[in-house]
Amino acid sequence: MKEQVLVSGGAGYIGSHTAVALIEAGYDVVIIDNFSNSDMGAVEGVRKITGVEVPFEQVDCCDKEALRAVFKKYPFKSVIHFAAYKAVGESVADPLKYYSNNLNSFVNILELMKEEGRNNVLFSSSATVYGEPVELPVTEQTPRQPATSPYGNTKQMCEDILRDTAAAYEGIKGIALRYFNPIGAHPSALIGELPRGVPNNLVPFITQTAAGVRECLSIFGDDYNTPDGTCIRDYIDVVDLAGAHVAAIARLVEGKNKESYEIFNVGTGNGTSVMELVTAFERVNELKLNYKIVGRRSGDVESVWADTALANDELGWKAVRSTDETLQSAWAWEKKVRGL
Ligand code: WQD
Repeated sequence: MKEQVLVSGGAGYIGSHTAVALIEAGYDVVIIDNFSNSDMGAVEGVRKITGVEVPFEQVDCCDKEALRAVFKKYPFKSVIHFAAYKAVGESVADPLKYYSNNLNSFVNILELMKEEGRNNVLFSSSATVYGEPVELPVTEQTPRQPATSPYGNTKQMCEDILRDTAAAYEGIKGIALRYFNPIGAHPSALIGELPRGVPNNLVPFITQTAAGVRECLSIFGDDYNTPDGTCIRDYIDVVDLAGAHVAAIARLVEGKNKESYEIFNVGTGNGTSVMELVTAFERVNELKLNYKIVGRRSGDVESVWADTALANDELGWKAVRSTDETLQSAWAWEKKVRGL
């Protein structure tokens, strides 16, 4: 029998790509999502790409009884928990929304794993836990910095909740994956990132500007202490990122984990500046982007990129897609969404 994996938030950007990668690797997948920031389109996309009628349940992880019914219905041993709010600015304006949703949903998942005897859990964490890093590249040992937003704080708190849970309860093992900056879309252009309203993140803003949905990209600051003055990030293709989840699930399922709780950075190991990314986007897609330099965005970190040695060695996983390829897939997806 195939190993089954519950994917919470599986209709979201990273969740849907991970569902595809799991199915392609031979897992059975069950998707749950409350559609707070997604819709059935992503589930249909996963079904179309894989040719598998993936089971889907519209469930809010904060509704413990509804979630329990999912645990009763499906015999999965592993859970990948993506379901969470993720807008930094909104979390500052409405912190209780973030603490209530992001913490309760994860605690419910873990309580049910304990109550129903399930074993393996992956948590979607973020490089945001490193704040303005004290060293570059950042390793998993690089100390976390105090969170600068309630969103970032929920990532740190959920990491700690998972660490303590995996330490205390026999049979529960956890991995936190710290994502750097996921970008791009599935090469089929059947799933991708679909931000509602004005995008906060760079690449969706770039693609929407290229599509004419936004008039002009604002580049937030060119006076940073970097070679071209713009901020540096580690942009990772979402399909590569999805592959890291498959490797991490396999590690837990096969009992290859060395501790009950482990952390892995998931990035490429390369830093790219905002200006380099914009220039590459123009070059690979043969277009000109309307952009202007404006002041810094408050809260932005100057530079951050990953040391990926641990994930490379322990998970046997490595990011392989080039930034060029990824920027092409991002643009192909945007064109598909806009009917261009
Ligand atoms: C990347 C770079 C901006 C938009 C945030 C969260 C993180 C994670 C991902 C959520 C920065 C610059 C951006 C624009 C710009 N979580 N930029 N013009 O800030 O690294 O991470 O999103 O899902 O927790 O903090 O990503 O894509 O917002 O920005 O110049 O219109 O692009 O200043 O240097 P970031 P980002």
